[in-house]
Amino acid sequence: MNKTYHVAMIMDGNGRWAEARGEKRVNGHEEGARVVRDITTFCSNHPDIERLTLYAFSTENWKRPRLEVEFLMKLLERYLKNELQTYINNNVRFEPIGDIRAFSKSLQKTIKEVEEKTAHCDGLVQNLALNYGSHDEILRAINILKSEKEDITEEMFSNALDCKHQVDIMIRTGGDHRISNFLLWQISYAELFFIDTLWPDFTADELSGILADFKTRDRRFGGLN
Ligand code: FPP
Repeated sequence: MNKTYHVAMIMDGNGRWAEARGEKRVNGHEEGARVVRDITTFCSNHPDIERLTLYAFSTENWKRPRLEVEFLMKLLERYLKNELQTYINNNVRFEPIGDIRAFSKSLQKTIKEVEEKTAHCDGLVQNLALNYGSHDEILRAINILKSEKEDITEEMFSNALDCKHQVDIMIRTGGDHRISNFLLWQISYAELFFIDTLWPDFTADELSGILADFKTRDRRFGGLN
């Protein structure tokens, strides 16, 4: 069966999840990383999902307290190193989106290694958005294209973006109804799902329910059915 869905997720609510238990916010990120693994595994086994794009660190997340940013950097590096074999076992290709040049040399090296070592996997693509912001992505695309002599087409612009694929299903956990600078070009006809569940409580069952709801939606893409 041909896999076609591109699912994107804004993984919000880690901090509140931890605070509600009287724990430090970073424990929510730690638990959130476990859910990233569970949801990625579920998607890799799903017959319809081709691509999963996860918002792990935004261009605006640098504004957080230094210790939280440092924790997230270490967590990302540890996660990628520990999960390399899981990516391969589940046939998941890892491809970062975002400007990773802002990260430490060591984290950049780990990101590139996992990308190279999973390049042959073709069951699911997991795009992790790392130092990603839509405005930054669009500006970098414009800079790539600015010396073109011909008029820029939609296809040329799409191809200059980090994420070249339109999103079918956009899910935000954590109760807020906003997009937060995520995939602005790519969600033009995405079906949007805003759910109250905090990311560490999000499950494959809840994702299954969203996919069932998605199948009932009448997607007209501006046309008529
Ligand atoms: C939002 O929760 C979450 C983030 C800013 C980071 C997302 C990170 C993870 C899910 C874990 C690490 C990821 C990987 C791939 C290892 P928040 O802190 O804004 O929560 P709040 O809204 O409750 O404060």
